[in-house]
Amino acid sequence: MDPLIEVRDLTKTYSAGAARSWALRGVSLSMARGEFAAIMGRSGSGKSTFMNIVGCLARQSSGVYRLDGIDVSRLSRDELAAIRNTKIGFVFQSFNLLPRTSAIENVELPLLYNRTVGSTSRLVRARQALAMVGLEGLEGRHPNELSGGQQQRVAIARSLVNSPEMILADEPTGALDTRNGVELMAIFQELNRRQGITILLVTHDPDIAAFARRVIRFRDGLVVDDETIRRPRDAHEALAETMPAAGVPAGADGGSR
Ligand SMILES: Nc1ncnc2c1ncn2[C@@H]1O[C@H](COP(=O)(O)OP(=O)(O)O)[C@@H](O)[C@H]1O
Ligand SMILES: [Mg+2]
Repeated sequence: MDPLIEVRDLTKTYSAGAARSWALRGVSLSMARGEFAAIMGRSGSGKSTFMNIVGCLARQSSGVYRLDGIDVSRLSRDELAAIRNTKIGFVFQSFNLLPRTSAIENVELPLLYNRTVGSTSRLVRARQALAMVGLEGLEGRHPNELSGGQQQRVAIARSLVNSPEMILADEPTGALDTRNGVELMAIFQELNRRQGITILLVTHDPDIAAFARRVIRFRDGLVVDDETIRRPRDAHEALAETMPAAGVPAGADGGSR
């Protein structure tokens, strides 16, 4: 079976007047279905550029990108949009929710582009997606009535509503505190383990990368390290062991640890 993602000698240059800057200098890697990988690397090392190409939001300057065996560079804009809508869910650092719109309406948005889904099943699917991220009961809240962690869950629900094969998350925990970040990783681990969704996320934080099963390091537009994590941290365990929920006194479990 083809890998889900296969890139060979991928480059991306940006031109500013006469000057040309290299964001990617020849990246080659592949990812199988069901992987959970983290990309790390300094600011400016090309991580977001890589994610945007993998997500079909931008095109490479040279090199090959095959998604599910399909050479993406040969596709028309409409075909690319269709792939984005059906195969890929996106999560961003800044949540990117519409402010004057309820949680459920935000989650329904990607389905509006899907003509095969009527309004009733749109509502049903959006409710299911919100339930998957633990937000049942909060469907009617607007983003400013939700915490940062809850807003990011709405964004994950929105990314799930089209049943994607893969979620791409660019610094999804960057705007969250430690506990909310780990809770987010618990959701990603569940989606990965229970539903087999492939997850690729960018993070600066080694404590977040430790939940992944593979860590890919970028430097100056190149992959400089690609490591398999034998025993990734388990986010549910991390939450239970080291970060008791607010209001629960330490040791309330009777010291069973
Ligand atoms: N739209 C753009 N126009 C010009 N240069 C860009 C653009 N996007 C990114 N770059 C440059 O490409 C390099 C890689 O950027 P980026 O992929 O955003 O890195 P990272 O996400 O690792 O911080 C940087 O030098 C950045 O300045
Ligand atoms: Mg970036």
